Amino acid sequence: MKITIKEHRGIHKLVCKAYGQVAAKSTSCCSGSSCCGPKPAASEGELGLSCGNPVAFSKVKKGMTVLDLGSGAGKDVFIAAPLAGAKGKVIGVDMTPEMLKLAAKNLVKFTARTGLANVEFRKGLIEKLPVKDAEADLVISNCVVNLSPDKPEVFREAFRALKPGGCIVVSDIVLNRELPPALKKHAGLYAACVAGALLRRDYLGAIKDAGFKGIKLLSDNAYRAGGTCSDPITDKAGKALNGAASSITVFAKK
Ligand SMILES: C[S@@+](CC[C@H](N)C(=O)[O-])C[C@H]1O[C@@H](n2cnc3c(N)ncnc32)[C@H](O)[C@@H]1O
Repeated sequence: MKITIKEHRGIHKLVCKAYGQVAAKSTSCCSGSSCCGPKPAASEGELGLSCGNPVAFSKVKKGMTVLDLGSGAGKDVFIAAPLAGAKGKVIGVDMTPEMLKLAAKNLVKFTARTGLANVEFRKGLIEKLPVKDAEADLVISNCVVNLSPDKPEVFREAFRALKPGGCIVVSDIVLNRELPPALKKHAGLYAACVAGALLRRDYLGAIKDAGFKGIKLLSDNAYRAGGTCSDPITDKAGKALNGAASSITVFAKK
């Protein structure tokens, strides 16, 4: 099913509003529906809205340029930056102004703590990355692609942004079966990273179609509705969601 430009913009607006509110509240645990299973975060990234740990599965080496799609408050950026070191660079891309504001605040603390000046946050869409061709050695993303209205375009953009031989390590939610129509159309459940998720085979197919090779599943865990914090929407939808979704981490190479 093709999504129209109008629907496309509507989804960006919905997601931006939801994560703007999460960032403005800036608690260490989600209080509403807009999160992908919040986790206690690194010292600067107080707000972690992740569904995996892509950096742990990535071999970040000194001097690398790492690009984080949908960097939020910067949790994974701040984990990757010391690994990339002073000669490397970590670029976080996010579309939500409030998230970028929070990330900028966290960056001040990170710089004071580490003395590193190798982090940059850029405002932009993951479907139209604000990076040059072949700028990155590694692309990471944590619980974001499911929120995009055009997942195949995100993977094509990630491919474009990577140097030849570069890798992508992405943690995300995928569906193991189609959701009931009422849940599929639920705006809150979309912002909660579930309703917009692709079927697993379509997700892996989109990575392959973008040109990636050597696609490997690095982790695969059942998604638990409600996560670690009480979440009214996914808690209510709990039964219908049982076994319907998984949190996976995928590796692929350009
Ligand atoms: C669930 S949070 C994950 C944040 C971060 N990766 C983490 O693990 O804490 C999703 C983030 O992706 C951003 N986002 C969602 N869709 C986006 C898009 N199409 N383009 C850019 N950023 C997007 C949101 O603004 C939000 O900060």
